[in-house]
Amino acid sequence: MSHDDFPTESPAVVTCGLPYANGDLHIGHLRTYVGGDVFSRALRRLGQQTAFVSGSDMHGTPVAVNAEQEGVSPETFALDWHERYAETFPKFNVEFDNYGHTHDRTNTETTQALVRDLEDAGHVYEKEIMVAYDPVDDQFLPDRYVEGTCPYCGEHARGDECDEGCQRHLEPGEIDEPVSTITGNPAEYRERTHKFFAVSEFADYLSGFLDRLEGTSNARNQPREWIEQGLQDWCITRDMDWGIDYPEDGAASPGKDDGGSERDLVLYVWVDAPIEYISSTKQYTDRVGSDVFDWETAWKEGVSEAHPEGGEIVHVIGRDIIQHHTIFWPAMLEATDHAEPRAVMASGFVTLGGKGFSTSRDRAVWADEYIDEGFHPDPLRYYLATNGGFQQDVDFSWEKFRDRVNTELVGTVGNFLYRSLLFAHRNYDGAPDVDATSEEVADRIDEAIADVEAAVNDYSVRALGDAVTDLARFGNEYIQRNEPWRLVDDEPENAAQVIHDCVAIAKAIAVLFEPIAPAKAERLWDQLGESGSVHEVTVDEARRSPAGDLSEPTELFEKIPDERVDELNEKLEARVAGAEEGERDDDRDDGSEDDETDDHTDTTDDDTTDDMTDIEPISDDRISFEEFQELDLRVGRIEDAVGIEGADDLLELTVDLGAETRTIVAGLKRLHDVDDLPGTKVIVLTNMERAELFGVESNGMVLAAGEEADLLTTYEGAEPGTKVK
Ligand code: MSP
Ligand code: ZN
Repeated sequence: MSHDDFPTESPAVVTCGLPYANGDLHIGHLRTYVGGDVFSRALRRLGQQTAFVSGSDMHGTPVAVNAEQEGVSPETFALDWHERYAETFPKFNVEFDNYGHTHDRTNTETTQALVRDLEDAGHVYEKEIMVAYDPVDDQFLPDRYVEGTCPYCGEHARGDECDEGCQRHLEPGEIDEPVSTITGNPAEYRERTHKFFAVSEFADYLSGFLDRLEGTSNARNQPREWIEQGLQDWCITRDMDWGIDYPEDGAASPGKDDGGSERDLVLYVWVDAPIEYISSTKQYTDRVGSDVFDWETAWKEGVSEAHPEGGEIVHVIGRDIIQHHTIFWPAMLEATDHAEPRAVMASGFVTLGGKGFSTSRDRAVWADEYIDEGFHPDPLRYYLATNGGFQQDVDFSWEKFRDRVNTELVGTVGNFLYRSLLFAHRNYDGAPDVDATSEEVADRIDEAIADVEAAVNDYSVRALGDAVTDLARFGNEYIQRNEPWRLVDDEPENAAQVIHDCVAIAKAIAVLFEPIAPAKAERLWDQLGESGSVHEVTVDEARRSPAGDLSEPTELFEKIPDERVDELNEKLEARVAGAEEGERDDDRDDGSEDDETDDHTDTTDDDTTDDMTDIEPISDDRISFEEFQELDLRVGRIEDAVGIEGADDLLELTVDLGAETRTIVAGLKRLHDVDDLPGTKVIVLTNMERAELFGVESNGMVLAAGEEADLLTTYEGAEPGTKVK
């Protein structure tokens, strides 16, 4: 089954991975929220009925452990963060239709009902398992209360996830050499009865689901591997009191301890967290009425006659939580007759100096800090949405941020708008009145609209940005080529046509840029004298003639001066150095560090974890420096990537090498999202002998690591052509 293109007749729900209510948000988190906001706005611009929802993730050990360290109750602690998040998102123009939290009544009820349905459908069973326990403190140690060694890869791991190694979800009892994160006491394992969700029964369903799943390719490839390796059932209860109680259903419940008295047993946080996607949509319906948006039509199968399969569910997340969204969650939905997610968009990670953000070490660019520095939110939205493909990891630097802002937003988009609107304002006091937009420009606007439609259907937020910068680039070229300033006196009609066309392009930019830069687009809309709000119109409006009632234009974007970058860098470098110092000093024996909020960045998109354990031995055959120098290695930038007919793996790449552009054939087709490749910097062996593959001459070799062809790239701004030495 393939899905109809957007816009469809069904209601869409776009969700964002819920932030754990346990610490400040950084710009890494914002990649999820900006990505979701951009995508949901773009769906609306296409005319798709859309609900955009999320909420705070209040439960689980990430919150409980931090609250304990601060000496407050988890509820007080989490609510405080929840309220702060609710204020932070709008500062970035991330506007959820509903932002709830997992501890509220709606989610408690929805979760308990769904778990009962799971039980009733026979997918839940009890099992005795070994659970980590601190004998000194007389406390069970679920998930992040315990750390130790990953049984799969041997890396240091947290109780429920191998975040520094193979990234696997770890079941209770799996971690070796367990130690309490709170007290540092060595833990022992004790037998407890817990509830399990029989995920393994859904292996066939999930394989089919992944074949239908749209979004980014990492969200399909990784889970396929996990299914091949065999799915484990999933322990859905925990020995702790912070969370949603397991729904009581009589004597057989493990809500009693082995002696028959009450025991603290709650649902695992990853059960109630995604259910908040449903609860949050329900709260939206409760607020606006089901005629505006009906949560049941969207989330349930067989409720609406018109849409028996439910709505278009799109999950926007970071790549660290793919497994939860493509294995556990769809199995829960399938087991309880809910709609199947249509797409999962899993972003790459934002890193700093190639390393993960660390909340506890203050190695981060904080969301509030960005605003406090006086920046407008839209440039960061643009940067996060368009820097590399969505799946690619992005190493943040203020220089790169400045470059994108100064060249693209100021130099291309802002410059076009300012020069054409100023010209129109000065010479015509508005958009000149002509019969219609010229055919050439009308066609170009149609093309930009088609680009936006294609970007939405490809789940590419980057392409949404490119559609606009490309249109502005055309605008600059159009005005330059037609030189209206020369025509004004001798050919006034032609001049008027050119300027009218430019205002029409400006209007199209306002409409099409709304998803990425909503506040700037609205300001442009006002400058253009258009009525109503740009947030309400659909892309068709981009085709309609401009109102023409221009006010005096002002520059839409501001240049970031180099001194600002130097200042910001100094602050950041001091902080990163501090974080690294902290890491070296960290002897872990006070057990009080709270790096449960650290990011997980150690693997690439489609990581094959087994690579870690059988690395080829390093060769003893040395070469001389002169021999190395014979390799002419250069930085290149992929400009274009197209499949080669008849070859399953091969791509024909057009690579900019500074001095020249070359065609290089590379075996990347099945391992990378082809659309994400253009714009990627790579390292090229330029003096590789030429080879002909499937009729295409390859003039160089792109370097990549391992079986998954992890592409070699550069950290900083080295331009194409730069020699690698
Ligand atoms: N609470 C869970 C998600 C539950 S969804 C039912 C969680 N929370 S989180 O606070 O750790 O992350 C929130 C979102 O931010 C997730 O989508 C996560 O993938 C994303 N990111 C967190 N750090 C990130 C980067 N450094 N870079 C990109 N995305 C990052 O996971
Ligand atoms: Zn591991």
